[in-house]
Amino acid sequence: MRSHSIVLRSVKNLKTRVTGLQGSAAFSKFSGNEGHYNGGEDNGEWKVRGAVFGSALAAGFAAFAADSNRRELLAEANTNVDVDKIIETTGARIEGLKEYSIAEVNKHDSPENRVWVTYKNGVYDITDFIPLHPGADKLLMAAGSSVEPFWAMYAVHLNNPVIYSMLEKYRIGNLDMADVASQAEQMASDSSDPYSTDPARHKAIIINSKKPFNGETPLGILTDSFITPTDLFYVRNHLPVPDVDVKNYELEVSGLGVKELNLSIDELKKFPKHKIVATVQCAGNRRAEMRATKNLKGLEWRGGAIGNAEWAGAKLCDVLKAAGLDENDEKIRHIHFEGLDTDPANSPYGASIPIEKATDPRGDVLLAYEMNGEPLNRDHGFPVRVIVPGVAGARNVKWLGRIIVSDVESDSHWQQNDYKGFNPSTDWDTVDFTKSPAIQDMPVTSSICSPAPGTKVTGGQELVVSGYAWSGGGRSIVRVDLTADGGKTWTQAESLEQDNARHPRHWGWTIWKGKVQVPEGVETAEVWSKAVDSSYNVQPESFSNIWNLRGVLSNAYCRLKLSVQ
Ligand code: MTE
Repeated sequence: MRSHSIVLRSVKNLKTRVTGLQGSAAFSKFSGNEGHYNGGEDNGEWKVRGAVFGSALAAGFAAFAADSNRRELLAEANTNVDVDKIIETTGARIEGLKEYSIAEVNKHDSPENRVWVTYKNGVYDITDFIPLHPGADKLLMAAGSSVEPFWAMYAVHLNNPVIYSMLEKYRIGNLDMADVASQAEQMASDSSDPYSTDPARHKAIIINSKKPFNGETPLGILTDSFITPTDLFYVRNHLPVPDVDVKNYELEVSGLGVKELNLSIDELKKFPKHKIVATVQCAGNRRAEMRATKNLKGLEWRGGAIGNAEWAGAKLCDVLKAAGLDENDEKIRHIHFEGLDTDPANSPYGASIPIEKATDPRGDVLLAYEMNGEPLNRDHGFPVRVIVPGVAGARNVKWLGRIIVSDVESDSHWQQNDYKGFNPSTDWDTVDFTKSPAIQDMPVTSSICSPAPGTKVTGGQELVVSGYAWSGGGRSIVRVDLTADGGKTWTQAESLEQDNARHPRHWGWTIWKGKVQVPEGVETAEVWSKAVDSSYNVQPESFSNIWNLRGVLSNAYCRLKLSVQ
């Protein structure tokens, strides 16, 4: 419900330019090759891949296209139902139904094993619905897991009584809540494994490492909504997730020239609450593309280590002011952040940012306690994390325990010996981490999310491509250029979906869509994307010239390989 309103609000505030491409994402998704709505002409039936649904379902899909009021829709369909009741009862426990454990649900993750999903307490076998669903490929990503984050992304499903009633038709049982609790307990009691208390993650997340947990959003769904649903937002952890008891939580503010503060969550919430839409991107995002040039060390991020969320919390500058910080004190140069996650030597995750960013009210650095309208979840930093918009993900410290005012940078491993860029000829035998500055503002980047690599296309065909673009430092995206002939000719993405924030306070990403002409007489083709930001920075052409041993700042043109028929 809350995610839904965020999506709507962000969409309302969007600066959207659409010329030539059709309407909303929801419309194009449901009016593409896979089906069409014949409202009026054909008794309002919805035809998808040859299947014809009954009128109630057809009416539901019509709602997707027309985005009309769903209550009116039901009334029109002469369906005399209590909408609130449907919404309330969908997924509620039904006494007498079979109980299924999470492990059992997890096993049903493909049509061969039958596709089960959960919604609240309900377990559903939706195998027979898969061929009928216009977004079957997306639905399959929820197989063996919960549909809830997908409904947050494809928000037309949320609170849609037609969809809810349809789901209930596939109900096979209840999720065994005792099993859910005992599984959590069992994990918690395995004290030899420091990761045993890590939270559960959605199955759609592509796992790059289990312990510590690192997982990214699949590119195929990443840009389907402007705001990334929390459960599908990439996770980048260096250590086990700390289990913070919010009742005893205190955020310490100390250091040079300030009086020590120890703020409970309620005290932090007394500061004015600010909201921003900001993209967080790992400095190693798109590393897999750089690695294809030459091997390097680091997790295999394919392009999904980025997400866009609405964050809310107190401004760091307000809290520093309350601690008595004198902004004009030239000795003060850096603000350190320490997480409550610690390594075996009890050393916390840490990072720092320059004082100029930290104290600028227009720098919008937040001590965030909410993500997408809800308290932060455990993976994303519960109860408080710092959001340093425009800056590498590594500085956005989660599970924030201490803020330290200092004359020097943080001496944390992740500030000093990681997340730095180097010359392509520097390798592990010659590297000197003291010689490079820590990454702060991120450079301009873009990625093609659709179609998928290797998609079969036809020579001469006009191909619609889409993806995301983002630049750090508060720069917005002014253009995304596309070519399918190695740069001989370029087109420009026709639609840029972004919020209204202005340069240099534009913290969110841009979702773009454009067209290219597939070359003829070739067996393979490459589509390249190149974003231009509001400082006219452009992505570099090749990864080989920006290669670095840790695979960070991997922002060359995105090159999508296609097979031409
Ligand atoms: N904060 C703490 N305390 N521990 C961490 O491991 N990882 C950092 C940053 N903050 C990290 C942290 C890195 S490298 C990134 S990219 C972002 O968190 C990822 O944020 P997310 O997991 O919420 O997407």
